[in-house]
Amino acid sequence: MLACVLSAALVGVEAALVRVEVDVAAGLPAFTTVGLPDSAVRESRERVRTAIRNAGFAFPADRITVNLAPADLRKEGASFDLPIALGILAATGAVADGRVGSFAVVGELALDGQIRPVRGTLAVGLTCRRSRIGTLVVPLENAPEARAVDGLRVLAAADLCAAVRLLNGEAPDDAAPAPGPAPAAADDLDLADVRGQAHARRALEIAAAGGHNVLLVGPPGGGKTMLARRLAGILPPLTGDEVLEVSTIWSVAGLLARPGQLVTRRPFRAPHHTISVSGLIGGGGPPHPGEVTLAHLGVLFLDELPEFQQHVLESLRQPLEDGRVTIARARGVGDFPARFQLVAAANPCRRGCPSLDRCLCTPGERGRYLGRLSRPLLDRIDLHVELPALAAADLGGGASAESSASVRHRVLRARERQWERFRGTGLRANADMSARQARRFGAPPPEAERLLAQAVSRLGLSARGHDRVLKVARTIADLAGAERLAPEHCAEAIQYRGLDRAWRA
Ligand SMILES: Nc1ncnc2c1ncn2[C@@H]1O[C@H](COP(=O)(O)OP(=O)(O)OP(=O)(O)O)[C@@H](O)[C@H]1O
Ligand SMILES: [Mg+2]
Repeated sequence: MLACVLSAALVGVEAALVRVEVDVAAGLPAFTTVGLPDSAVRESRERVRTAIRNAGFAFPADRITVNLAPADLRKEGASFDLPIALGILAATGAVADGRVGSFAVVGELALDGQIRPVRGTLAVGLTCRRSRIGTLVVPLENAPEARAVDGLRVLAAADLCAAVRLLNGEAPDDAAPAPGPAPAAADDLDLADVRGQAHARRALEIAAAGGHNVLLVGPPGGGKTMLARRLAGILPPLTGDEVLEVSTIWSVAGLLARPGQLVTRRPFRAPHHTISVSGLIGGGGPPHPGEVTLAHLGVLFLDELPEFQQHVLESLRQPLEDGRVTIARARGVGDFPARFQLVAAANPCRRGCPSLDRCLCTPGERGRYLGRLSRPLLDRIDLHVELPALAAADLGGGASAESSASVRHRVLRARERQWERFRGTGLRANADMSARQARRFGAPPPEAERLLAQAVSRLGLSARGHDRVLKVARTIADLAGAERLAPEHCAEAIQYRGLDRAWRA
């Protein structure tokens, strides 16, 4: 008897449909799995055999052949256990054969027949909807995640017996709750705690308003890490589609706080400076997503930037430019979204001297430290901010600084102007504009053009640096509620490129 069950394999951060074909034929007892399975899939034979018996069904003493099609797609993990088991039960008549073909099924089996949660259910749900498969059978814990996909019927089962009853139409669909948002984390990181540093606070607000990359340079203990960690608190919330986009990635990476709990806050990833290229960009075979992809639509914070290995920093260049990473390995190609906002912090020199003009390091030492940050990398960072050491007066008591909530309010107004302007273009923020779009949406007046031309020669800005100044100027105008770019918007944007010159000197 032949039975066929639909399932899905994860490819990068998406899911591809897989047909699980099960043939049970007379012959010496054997159980073979073909179709490019990895070791976890091959081991599923033992789990499936034991789970079927322990759930109270008869396991056929025949020759069982399982084929996972298409055969050229590599299959990973234990999520094929449940479709294989249901295929065997359909081939032996325990499940009504006519029904299994109309469902997609994912789930890992425990030896006692319980169904364990799997990674990437959201991606599987989205693929089912695209392929017009009406019903998806998932482990109970993954049900809220799959139910986030509109227009998909989700059946959830806690164990193999429950799955069989569902497929035979003997049990009503359970009415498990829709996905709950993550409980609002008590956010105690507020900008009100940061004293002084008005220049850096302003830069952070501009960065949040336009999605720009920012580099904070300053002496130890001045508040760089403190400020950077408060960026997430002033960013606009994720939209409904963005929640699905980010949650799909996190679900595939197995990082959801609980299976089924969607990511509703913008990601904030802060990897340590000892991270490798494959940890940051993604890698392995088949390729898995790295930190840049986990930071998609959120913030990637690289503290102590010059301490990262140089080739690791250089690997950021492609995702910073394209908002995606493509990783080719012998065992597959991964193409991952990576539209993140980079926030970096650095001391001006290895000794951490108070400022550039009071630095005890020789120019050679400083050059070696800062020289790890290549020109192409600096070029991709829109806002360079130098923080001074805090004055004693700043540290005293007195009124606290402006709170994150009130800064976020201005950021949101500026973003709303951008959404209005970019309607139908697919752009989300000023930082995403191409050079041509930057000119179309923010052509500078002649006076500002002159300022820009001077900056290009004085600071030695590249063409990319010039375009990025223009985008920052557009954000500054949006924060000011101005329709047209004015010279003062460009002038302010230019002063955030100061380190181009100072660092190269
Ligand atoms: N501007 C500030 N306002 C209030 N507290 C501050 C400020 N700057 C620093 N502090 C205090 O100093 C601590 C260290 O600050 P932070 O870690 O942000 O410094 P940093 O600039 O990142 O230093 P390093 O270069 O050594 O990493 C903070 O936890 C905070 O208590
Ligand atoms: Mg720090």
